[in-house]
Amino acid sequence: MNSDTDTINMNEIHMDAQTVDEENKILKATVEDLQNELKKYQRIPYLVTQIVDVHKKDEVVIQLNSGKFYVSVAKELEGTLQADDEVLVEQKTLTVVQKIGKSKHFDVSGYIIVENPTTQWNNIGGLEKQIQEVKEVIELPLLKPDLFKNVGIEPPKGVLLYGPPGTGKTLIAKAAAKNSNATFIEIVGSELVQKFIGEGSKFVKSMFELAREKAPSIIFIDEIDSIAAKRIEVGTSGEREVQRTFMQLLAELDGFKALGNIKIIAATNRLDILDPAITRPGRLDRTIEVTLPDRKGILEIFKIHTKKMTLTKDVSLDELSGMVKNVSGAEIRSICTEAGYFAIRKERKYVTMDDFKKAIKKVRKGYKEKSTDYLKLYGQ
Ligand SMILES: Nc1ncnc2c1ncn2[C@@H]1O[C@H](COP(=O)(O)OP(=O)(O)OP(=O)(O)O)[C@@H](O)[C@H]1O
Ligand SMILES: [Mg+2]
Repeated sequence: MNSDTDTINMNEIHMDAQTVDEENKILKATVEDLQNELKKYQRIPYLVTQIVDVHKKDEVVIQLNSGKFYVSVAKELEGTLQADDEVLVEQKTLTVVQKIGKSKHFDVSGYIIVENPTTQWNNIGGLEKQIQEVKEVIELPLLKPDLFKNVGIEPPKGVLLYGPPGTGKTLIAKAAAKNSNATFIEIVGSELVQKFIGEGSKFVKSMFELAREKAPSIIFIDEIDSIAAKRIEVGTSGEREVQRTFMQLLAELDGFKALGNIKIIAATNRLDILDPAITRPGRLDRTIEVTLPDRKGILEIFKIHTKKMTLTKDVSLDELSGMVKNVSGAEIRSICTEAGYFAIRKERKYVTMDDFKKAIKKVRKGYKEKSTDYLKLYGQ
C-alpha cells in the first residue's frame, strides 16, 4: 500500500518537475523575444543607399545625399555587390551591412518595341538623298567598320531625323535596321516621360544595356523633343525628372564608341525646340531633314501603295500625283486605302480613277488643319 502511494507521489513530483521545466522554457523564450524586441527599439537605424561603383570585393563607393563615399562591406556580403544595388549602411562608419535588392532594374523589354523589321529601302518613295545619308552613317559603319578604320575617321554615332509627321522617318529607321541586320529598339519619348516618373534615367540606362546585349542594334528614339526640349528654367519636379532623363541620355551618347555596333536614330517634328546639347559634336551631330515629297516622290509613293491594288486602266497615278500638293506619305497611303473602300462599298473588285478622286477629297479635308502648322514651320 505504502509503496503504491510512494509511486504515485514520485510520479506527481516527476510530472510537476516536467511542467516547471516547460514553463521555464516558455518564460525564457518570452524573455528572449522581449529582449530582441527591445533591441529593435534601441538599434540605430541603417541608411538606405545605392552602390555607385565596386572597387574591390570588400570596398565600394556609395551615393549618400549629394556626396559619394568610399566604404567597407560586411564580411558576409563580400563579392556579392554590384553597381546600382540598393543597400543598408551603418550610420557611423557607413559599412554596407545588408543588400535589400537590386535597385528597380527595369525589364525594359516589356516597354519598348524590340523587333527585326521587314521594311526595305524600296518601300520608301522619294527621299533618295536622305536614304543615302542614313545608309552612310548607320548601315555602312555597322556592316563595314573596317572601311572607317582604314581611312581613320569616326562615323557619327547616329542621326537626327526631323520633318513633318507621316513623311517616312520611322520607315527610314526600320529600313536601316533591316539592312544592317540589327535589332531595332524603339522608344517613344513622350511615353518615357509619362510612364516612368522618377525612373526615366534608369530606364535610359537599361535601354542601352539591352542594346549592348542584342548588338548590333539600332536604338530609335521617336519624339525625342519630349525629353530633349530646351528649357528656359527647370522648375517643377517633373521638369527636373525629364532633365535627369535627358542627362542620362547625353551620358550614354557620350559613353559609347562611334565604331561600336550600336547606332542611334532619333526623330522629331520639332527641331526648333530641341536643346542644342543633343546635336553637339560627338552626339547626334548629323541632322537630316525628311521633307514632304515633291511631285516625283509623290508618284513613287503612289506606286508603292497601289502595288497590290487592282486598278482599272483609267487610273493614272501620274495625274493623281499632280492633283495633290503638300501631301505626306502617310496621307498618300490613306488616299489609296480610302479609294479601296469606295470600291468595296460599290461591291467592286477593282478601283477606279473616280474612287481615287473621291478619296483625295476625303483625306485632304481631314488633314488640312493638321498639316498647316507644319507647313508654316518648315516653310513648305
Ligand atoms: N516616303 C514614304 N514612302 C512610302 N510610304 C510612306 C512614306 N512616308 C510615309 N509613308 C507611309 O506613311 C506611314 C507613316 O510613315 P512614318 O511612320 O514613317 O512617318 P513619320 O515620319 O515617322 O511620322 P511621325 O513624325 O508622325 O512619326 C508609313 O507606314 C507608310 O505607309
Ligand atoms: Mg514616326
